[in-house]
Amino acid sequence: MDKLQITGGEALKGSIRISGAKNSALPILAASLLTENPVTIGNIPHLHDITTMVELLGCMGGNVVVDEKLELEIDCGSLHSRTAPYELVKTMRASILVLGPMLARHGVANVSFPGGCAIGSRPVDLHLRGLEQMGAKVQIEDGYIKATSDGRLKGAHILMDTVTVGGTENLMMAAALADGTTIIENAAREPEVTDLANCINAWGGDVQGAGTDTITINGVEKMPGGYFRVMPDRIETGTYLVAAAATGGSVTVKDTDPSTLEAVLLKLEEAGADITCGEDWIELDMHGKRPKAVSLKTAPYPGFPTDMQAQFTAMNAVAEGVGMVTETIFENRLIQTHELNRMGAKISLEGHTAMVTGVERLKGAPVMASDLRASASLVIAGLVADGATLVDRIYHIDRGYECIEEKMQQLGANIRRIG
Ligand code: EPZ
Repeated sequence: MDKLQITGGEALKGSIRISGAKNSALPILAASLLTENPVTIGNIPHLHDITTMVELLGCMGGNVVVDEKLELEIDCGSLHSRTAPYELVKTMRASILVLGPMLARHGVANVSFPGGCAIGSRPVDLHLRGLEQMGAKVQIEDGYIKATSDGRLKGAHILMDTVTVGGTENLMMAAALADGTTIIENAAREPEVTDLANCINAWGGDVQGAGTDTITINGVEKMPGGYFRVMPDRIETGTYLVAAAATGGSVTVKDTDPSTLEAVLLKLEEAGADITCGEDWIELDMHGKRPKAVSLKTAPYPGFPTDMQAQFTAMNAVAEGVGMVTETIFENRLIQTHELNRMGAKISLEGHTAMVTGVERLKGAPVMASDLRASASLVIAGLVADGATLVDRIYHIDRGYECIEEKMQQLGANIRRIG
């Protein structure tokens, strides 16, 4: 099993390009089920989760071709199966995103019930309740979600109990082909939700209000399909900026969108970073200084993103002062603190809050990744630790970070993958 070996002590310097957003590409790939015509999707990141979603579409009869520009041409015009099998869904929970579009276009969808993961139980009750409000019949049988609709789904007025990104995306896709208008209240406002809405509109749908907490979808009978380019990955962007801040470095990230991570940039400035932004680039300079500790509380967008919490916890571990980090979205997303403490961090947990007292340097150690963003925090910790850190189970990292060691090497990090 691959590991990442990191020898700390270098301040990151230089520039890298940001890849397409994993959490936008996944629902957009699922949205290809909405049309019988081929679609072309650009700026798709080369990640394990993307491969899994492509495999899932393929196993149902979708035809996926990578063209000369490394863009994906997907044709889901003639599926031979309406089932998303356990073998694939168990490796990637986001497979649940095929439920809404499949049901909307075919009137039937069987998706293996997605289990929880290291960060929490990850229920999908709000996805299912919304589909039932649109007239679907939903049963759970033999570990599968079996959904059917008698004719087209019907437009409905749906108030989401909890802000859910995947729930909003699934219901938005289902509503795209429904008979009538659907209003989703208390909708997620994440940029990836807006990106999906823009994609549905580019392919012939009619989604209004994405990015606000009320989204209106006027169902259409057919979507002609077309081309769409996925937005840049704001979490990958934030991860490299935090790594630079933790190491006292100076980096520029390109092909990104500064407007999608304002809460993160404000926290980095609070940590002492000088930040300059252009239309599609961000420059961060610590002037060789140690970061100052910051306190944060995760929240739905535009609040501080839960997907950046672990990275800031790692930065706080070597910052000046004490930072309080509160995780409000997932019940078990502070697990990386135990591994950080094994590297000499001083972190104590009180419920969903980690109190992080910064130390000058961490100490390299063998550590184990538990989920995607926790893995990133261990890489950041390795960059600011004396000696070598060996991060095991880095398949978690490969799910969400394209060529992480190459990009970190480009920034001067002493990091390599060992088999
Ligand atoms: C998406 O997950 C992202 N994944 C996650 O990124 C991200 O952390 C999360 O949104 C929050 O921003 C993708 O987009 C593929 P949620 P999702 O539904 O949609 C509760 C990463 O690291 N909930 O917004 O699964 C749920 O328990 C990943 O890239 C219900 O109660 O998250 C949680 O407490 C990790 N019932 C809260 O909502 C439901 O039916 C937010 O979850 C659905 C969700």
